[in-house]
Amino acid sequence: MANTDQADPNRRDFLYIATGAMGVVGAGAVVWPFIDQMNPDASALALASVEVDVSAIEEGQSISVQWRGKPVFIRYRTAAEIEEANAVSLDELPDPLARNANLPSDAPATDENRGAEGAEQWLIQVGVCTHFGCVPIGDAGEYNGWFCPCHGSHYDTAGRIRKGPAPENLLIPPFEFVEETMIKIG
Ligand code: FES
Repeated sequence: MANTDQADPNRRDFLYIATGAMGVVGAGAVVWPFIDQMNPDASALALASVEVDVSAIEEGQSISVQWRGKPVFIRYRTAAEIEEANAVSLDELPDPLARNANLPSDAPATDENRGAEGAEQWLIQVGVCTHFGCVPIGDAGEYNGWFCPCHGSHYDTAGRIRKGPAPENLLIPPFEFVEETMIKIG
């Protein structure tokens, strides 16, 4: 069990954080003040993962959760949003890479590579603008996706940068569906 041994120095902190996060994440915003109070050190944060119950999110809705100190946007996309993203050819994209931590680093930024595998209606991405790190606004911008008001970056319905100074698509964190409506991020 080499992995367990390696994880030992931080294991107790990790379990503490993970348990706290999982216990309240369904309650949305409550989780963050709680974790803040615990004031986890950087090593604990680096290991933390969160599980998010998405069963209450309806088509066309998004939620934001916190993971490793950053917002993560989880959106249940509409069929129209997926269609819109699929209609875009790769050579129209300023950043042609998927930026999906679950895929090889050279995977192209197709909609298929941005949405969750086998459940493309779910788009899960770190809510940090790739320009200077502001938090973009959802359901906004010229491409009906996200808009970063800091310097005017427009992201499309697949979270891909389309206009403005941001150099890269919004990052897709490592995640998996541990149940049909339960996503583990990290
Ligand atoms: S930080 Fe988003 S556009 Fe500059």
